[in-house]
Amino acid sequence: MKNPKWLSKKEIEDIIQESLSDEQLENAKNHLLTPVFEQVFDSSVGNGTPFFKIRGDDREFLDCTSQAWVLALGHGAIEPTYAAYVQARKFTHHQFGFLDETRAKLAKKLTSIAPGKLKGGKVAFNNMGGSASNEAAIRLAYVSQKRNQKQQIVVFSRGYHGSSLAMTGATQYIRIATRYRPLGLDRWERAFFPYCYRCPWGYKGGLGGKKDKKCKLECLQLFQNFIEENTNSDVAAVMLEPIQGAGGQIPAPVEWLQGLQEICKVNKIQIIYDEFQTGFGRTGYMFATDYYNKIGELDVSPDMMTLAKAAGGGYPLGILLVSDKYKQFSEAEEHSTFSSTPVPMAACLVVLEIMQKHAIPENARKMGQLITQRLLELQQTYPQIGDVRGPGLFIGIEFVKDPKTREPFTDLSEAMKKEGWKQAIYFQGMMPIVKPSGEMVRNVLKIKPPLIINEEEANLICDRFELCLKNCLKELQ
Ligand SMILES: Cc1ncc(COP(=O)(O)O)c(C=O)c1O
Repeated sequence: MKNPKWLSKKEIEDIIQESLSDEQLENAKNHLLTPVFEQVFDSSVGNGTPFFKIRGDDREFLDCTSQAWVLALGHGAIEPTYAAYVQARKFTHHQFGFLDETRAKLAKKLTSIAPGKLKGGKVAFNNMGGSASNEAAIRLAYVSQKRNQKQQIVVFSRGYHGSSLAMTGATQYIRIATRYRPLGLDRWERAFFPYCYRCPWGYKGGLGGKKDKKCKLECLQLFQNFIEENTNSDVAAVMLEPIQGAGGQIPAPVEWLQGLQEICKVNKIQIIYDEFQTGFGRTGYMFATDYYNKIGELDVSPDMMTLAKAAGGGYPLGILLVSDKYKQFSEAEEHSTFSSTPVPMAACLVVLEIMQKHAIPENARKMGQLITQRLLELQQTYPQIGDVRGPGLFIGIEFVKDPKTREPFTDLSEAMKKEGWKQAIYFQGMMPIVKPSGEMVRNVLKIKPPLIINEEEANLICDRFELCLKNCLKELQ
């Protein structure tokens, strides 16, 4: 690399690497507008591992979150950073109107690995993440209608689609928890999302994310009635996570997704899948859509798919991927200062190359099977494990007080997160579901480690999970 012009390398290193005292860190909190955890993030461990360290603690923490499901290749993975460096040596930024080779390569790559109808389609990027991609999808849904006449967007119970002023209205929990009202609240309709473990029609065999064998898909009928009778023919698009993440790790049954395709086709409604969390290998397939296409043997690919999280290997990137039938946006309709910054795109190109060359989704599938199997074995000893849902490394464990009544055991899930810090394993739970009565339900714990974990690390996750569970149950009983 060339020598810097204004500061020496040493001066730059000193600025970044200067160590702060505990007091200085504490004082910094007075200047942050956003709340932070008690623990201070210190460092990644190794080169592409599931471990990280926190300040003042020598232990290596086993990460079951991939840091908001972003670090699919693990902590400290060198390749995305080296790709960013190689790109940054050439240039870091240009005005969004310019095309560059990195954006051209990534558009080609994404549209070639895309599933079903999205193959050979079109793509838009941003460097702001998920909410921005979802808003872009909705803008495209609006401008692609013949007379731009339909205004409503259907989202689903327990869905999470972001926290921008517009997307807050689409996100069930955030909408309840914020002290302001989102913009455009009147544009969202909320439909019922199937939840087989808690089926309102009383089917009890909907375990592991699969529907009960006797189920007649009443939830699909409900959706059809909702669309055809409750929405005034004014629906431009539906937006859904095919497998919900924040809402509780809830997979839609494949038959429901197939039915949704049909209903939307008949009613001329565009389908948007939000695959921020499920995209790029997490479910054991490159996209959750690939997983459903495989298990259902029918194409359930959407008209549009939005992606972020793992895409940039730790560098911020949001993606909107659409089928070839869509025409381009005008410049006014989709642009932002950083919407074509090539550094995260370079990282994404390399992330995708690694995923394909080293079969990372397959590893996620195998390690996911290993962990899921061990959790199901633990269920025999611990009836508080009500349900274990995948697929791949997209695992949710639903805790209940009693497997017969399935009463949610929120205290256990909350205790597991605290105990995790003691046992050097980092867990996160689902978003809180707050009932109108004020009762909060948050009883699903997630296991979503980096996709590169090996067998030893997968077993370590299960060992530490069991230890936490034993300790928490002792304390709570
Ligand atoms: C499924 C899903 N959609 C959208 C978002 C919003 O993404 P962002 O926070 O980058 O705006 C998230 C973030 O967690 C998400 O999980």
